Amino acid sequence: MPIIFDAEQKFFHLSNNEISYIIGIEKGKYITHRYFGPNLECYHQVNQLQYIDRGFATNPISEERTFSLNTLPLETSTQGSLDYRVSNYQFRNIEGGRITNFVYDRFEISKGKQRLEGLPSLRGDMEQTLEIYLVDHIQSLEMILRYTIYDTLPVISRNVEYRNDGAQVIYLENAGSMLLDLPRCDFDLVTLNGAHTNEATIHRQPLHPGIQKLASSRGTSSPQHHPFLGLADRCTNEDQGCVYGFHFIYSGNFVAQAEVEQYGSTRIQIGINPETFEWKLSPGSHFQTPEVVLNFSARGFNQLSQTFHKLYQTNLIPEQWREKERPILLNSWEGNYFDFTEADLIRQAQLAKDLGIELFVLDDGWFGQREDDTTSLGDWEVNREKLPNGIEYIADILHQQKMKFGLWFEPEMISVKSQLFEKHPEWSLCVPSYPQTQGRQQLVLNLSLFEVQEYLIKVLTDYLSSKKIDYIKWDMNRHLTEVGNFLLPDDQQKEVSHRYVLGLYRVLSEVTKKFPQVLFENCSSGGGRFDPGMIAYMPQTWTSDNTDALCRSKIQYGYSYLYPPIMMGAHVSDSPNHQLGRNTPLESRFLIAMSGNFGYELAIEKQSPEELKEIKEQISFYKKHRRLLQFGQFYRLKELDAAYSTAWLFKNETEALLVYSNGLAQPAQPVQYLKTKYLEGTSLYKETRTGKVYSGSELNHAGILIPRIKGDFNCFYIHWTVTE
Ligand code: DGJ
Repeated sequence: MPIIFDAEQKFFHLSNNEISYIIGIEKGKYITHRYFGPNLECYHQVNQLQYIDRGFATNPISEERTFSLNTLPLETSTQGSLDYRVSNYQFRNIEGGRITNFVYDRFEISKGKQRLEGLPSLRGDMEQTLEIYLVDHIQSLEMILRYTIYDTLPVISRNVEYRNDGAQVIYLENAGSMLLDLPRCDFDLVTLNGAHTNEATIHRQPLHPGIQKLASSRGTSSPQHHPFLGLADRCTNEDQGCVYGFHFIYSGNFVAQAEVEQYGSTRIQIGINPETFEWKLSPGSHFQTPEVVLNFSARGFNQLSQTFHKLYQTNLIPEQWREKERPILLNSWEGNYFDFTEADLIRQAQLAKDLGIELFVLDDGWFGQREDDTTSLGDWEVNREKLPNGIEYIADILHQQKMKFGLWFEPEMISVKSQLFEKHPEWSLCVPSYPQTQGRQQLVLNLSLFEVQEYLIKVLTDYLSSKKIDYIKWDMNRHLTEVGNFLLPDDQQKEVSHRYVLGLYRVLSEVTKKFPQVLFENCSSGGGRFDPGMIAYMPQTWTSDNTDALCRSKIQYGYSYLYPPIMMGAHVSDSPNHQLGRNTPLESRFLIAMSGNFGYELAIEKQSPEELKEIKEQISFYKKHRRLLQFGQFYRLKELDAAYSTAWLFKNETEALLVYSNGLAQPAQPVQYLKTKYLEGTSLYKETRTGKVYSGSELNHAGILIPRIKGDFNCFYIHWTVTE
């Protein structure tokens, strides 16, 4: 049984072959965190709670001075008394009171996993779920702590439901999704931070006393901070050591924090960012929080990644894309920007087809008066000056050539210079009396308005009903300002940021369910909203607007902590690179793009005959190994160093591929043997180029000699087939 309740000792034990998670009930009232880590055969409370009469402690039972919620390891906070650490929730009643007194009431264990209404969440029909009910009898409030344990993965998902069973309105000022207290603080905190064109940089530093917090209040999860926290043992590396990963399935404002408290424990708390949140709970209503994934690895960061990759590919992305191969695409953006004609596109697509490319994506610039980025967002009518015969005409030509056709949209945006803005200025986010702030000379549509959601569903449905569009790139190029909703009363204005996200999820859910055959690619100026919430609807994301292959090796390295290569759009672009101006070899650009969800984004007609020949060979190589690259296991064989050198391994039952990049060339190149570490030790691997056969164990442990490499950013690959 994955979840048991020990009635005598009063604890819940959630377990599978790899992990155990134990929750206690103290004094029949308080929910404590007792253990999270490698599987325990059984549990008899060897790690007793510590009871000491401490200075400044407050005690729920006054004469029991050794019992205090200031110090107990908890599964949720208290409010207004007893626990002073960061809190997971906060209510405010209509008198302004901010005190609650939740105590344990009952529990339920059930098979399967509830999907969260209106929110993306993990699937898990075969799993088991525990719900712990806490009640505040004074105000008739209920809080349900929900846990699902995965049968075959070291994963627990958590969320919280807050209910108002009383007769009065109450406000939720903070509605956290999870909190837990780990009984130590000697961890390294691992986070993914960055900026536009520099996403997912891994930061690792020892925890220190006090609160260490990551947050977004930009309306999206943001490229600045990823909604993820890792806590690693100091010795943990890619292959060894323990690490906990906490990942938030949400695409809006979030907070993820770790607090090292006075006696050396660490509190983890994750949820919607309370700075930009409040929710009115009318009598009889409830609020469901987004979900958090808790992942534990005892075998380093690679194992943590393996679990995330498998979990998201199997239990999160739309089911129809789980096993479906993804096409090689040519995206029109960097090759044309806004400047193209119908004839240009048809010629480019034809050339792409001849090279073996399978999908042509028409990016920005095809609609309204869109000659640059200052106009027309919202006017999703084809620009007849550029494309006199319309979108369907181009799609038909491509389909006749057995090529797929994709189209770019930025559905959530509106340009001030647009017909839509003339007609519906009230649809853009705004707050009375204040000017609207523009970003990239555009405003944001208010997706918290039902009318706007319906409008977007209609626009996309009309395009997709023609059955001529096989792929949509869903872009989002600025963050939210003047977040308000003129239809909501004053006391619900702070709901708008979350309502925006719910509106977005509604539109995405309706459209992707209606058109399951259409491949959606998520984008927010690259990885600005690359989060598990978005991948629940769109199985791949444009990883970064930075297409410089050297930078990409770092960005893809960072995201690979959480997402498999198939989820990371990666394109071969021109050299010198448009963002960095750096020159890199075509082969290196290919090998890095091939290590993601592969495509091209360059001026295809300007490539030399030699380059076109090389591109054709790349494409045929990729097609031969597509199953390995898209569905194989992916491992990082070396940690990213200052020279940006990387080594990646793809592996499945029949073949394996190593991609090595030297990054920036170094003087006095040291002798290096690269160990493949993760091949099957007892299998034999035949190197495709040389025909030489090696055992998996020698490749894993003795390693491959890295040859002398001159010049910056030279990549090579080695491919093997399993012979036995
Ligand atoms: C930002 C995206 O990330 C780019 O790939 C491109 O689609 C532009 N927007 C178009 O405006």
